[in-house]
Amino acid sequence: MKIFAVNGSPRMKKGMTHILLENFLEGARSAGATTETVLLQKQKIKYCLGCLDCWVKTPGVCVHNDDMKQLIEKVNCADCLVLGTPVYVDGMTAQTKTFLDRMMPLVDPHFENVDGHYRHPSRSGNPMPSVVLVSVCGFYERDNFDGLIDHMTRICRNMQSRFVGAVVRPSSYILNLDSILAKQIEEIKSAARRAGKELVEKGTLSPQVLDDVARDYLPKELTLKGANDFWDRCIKAGKLLST
Ligand SMILES: Cc1cc2nc3c(=O)[nH]c(=O)nc-3n(C[C@H](O)[C@H](O)[C@H](O)COP(=O)(O)O)c2cc1C
Repeated sequence: MKIFAVNGSPRMKKGMTHILLENFLEGARSAGATTETVLLQKQKIKYCLGCLDCWVKTPGVCVHNDDMKQLIEKVNCADCLVLGTPVYVDGMTAQTKTFLDRMMPLVDPHFENVDGHYRHPSRSGNPMPSVVLVSVCGFYERDNFDGLIDHMTRICRNMQSRFVGAVVRPSSYILNLDSILAKQIEEIKSAARRAGKELVEKGTLSPQVLDDVARDYLPKELTLKGANDFWDRCIKAGKLLST
């Protein structure tokens, strides 16, 4: 399986998205997949202008001459696209959304009827890669991913991609608490690696492995107190302290 992954966290390799994504991909590689990851923050990707030149004037070619040219080729050649993004304002980051908006050249403007919905066929005639979402968020409850997962489900239906599933980790900062939660962090990373392996070996992500990645490790009330103490210390110091 050829996997193309993007990390849409502006914090790039310092972020928790990176930790979850890289463990997922490590698991996929252990089962024989080849993987390539791109940090979207480092790429020059301009906003889609909505001119639709890529549909009518220069079919398949965007009016912008930027890094998306190479990225779109990588998407085209992949069996699976892994989208890594933190939850920002109940959705994906702007970097991730801009990347997805710029996929317009991959589809043909004509309509076709797919199970009662009109959709655009892929320009190449080949199926679009399947999609996995890998995401982290700061809040405690898993339902903070609901908006993003619903959005991804619809995007995939629109793109005629198979949405394999979402590997999500709430209370993302836990992944930074090596000094006190080393064992739990290793359990989360190990579950993410198992998820990557499952993707390659079975083409699916089991509810069990997704639950293992997302599991609660700290009681909710303790999280409230711990988080508020942390923010008080940061505000006092006037900077973001390490957790
Ligand atoms: C602009 C912004 C918006 C955010 N919105 C949410 C949100 O709606 N829900 C949530 O649970 N966390 C939210 N967070 C927290 C991030 O999801 C969390 O800090 C995550 O670890 C960031 O990813 P990173 O570690 O890869 O940078 C937000 C963070 C930022 C900076």
